[in-house]
Amino acid sequence: MPAEQCHTYSQLVCEHLASSWQIMRASRIACYFPAGNEVDLFPFIEFAWRANKEVYLPVLGLRYTGQLWFVPYRPEDKLYLNRFGIPEPVHDRRHRRTSLRNLDIMLLPLVAFDECGNRIGMGGGFYDRTLANLQHSDGWQRPKRIGVAYQLQQTHKIPSEKWDIPLHAVATEQGITWFEESR
Ligand SMILES: Nc1ncnc2c1ncn2[C@@H]1O[C@H](COP(=O)(O)OP(=O)(O)OP(=O)(O)O)[C@@H](O)[C@H]1O
Ligand SMILES: [Mg+2]
Repeated sequence: MPAEQCHTYSQLVCEHLASSWQIMRASRIACYFPAGNEVDLFPFIEFAWRANKEVYLPVLGLRYTGQLWFVPYRPEDKLYLNRFGIPEPVHDRRHRRTSLRNLDIMLLPLVAFDECGNRIGMGGGFYDRTLANLQHSDGWQRPKRIGVAYQLQQTHKIPSEKWDIPLHAVATEQGITWFEESR
């Protein structure tokens, strides 16, 4: 997609997120930094800051775990590039202890999604491994996992492996679709 189109659609995705009631009543929201031409959440991040919400970003955890930590991201925080060239906030070690259950919403970047909420990411298994910790607990509904993508990334049924964690909803330039009733 041309950069200009990505920009226009990203703005729309951010507007849909900012006006949804699930976001309105959330206080802690995990976002991500766009790699390549992924949907850019920055306008939404700025909205969330203005609305006094806490924004979190993923940082790579210990290499052998293949998991992500979610650390607070405030306007004054500096960023550095991780080994994949993705910006991460410079943070205090103690912030790595943020429990996933403390997050209300997690926005996840997608490569593709289907009508049942199955997702394909960049293939590293980072989100799947991180979220696996919640699978067998009451915390399964928290944080709400909202995939973020362009509508053209919707595809026919995506086969799901046993480790794949599905989405509660997907946000695109056309709006937010919730899948809960489909599982
Ligand atoms: N809970 C898990 N425990 C151990 N390995 C896992 C787990 N989840 C995924 N993996 C490994 O990660 C690899 C990549 O997973 P997958 O193909 O589902 O990537 P993805 O969903 O596109 O990536 P991501 O979750 O980062 O968006 C899998 O081959 C699998 O071996
Ligand atoms: Mg997966």
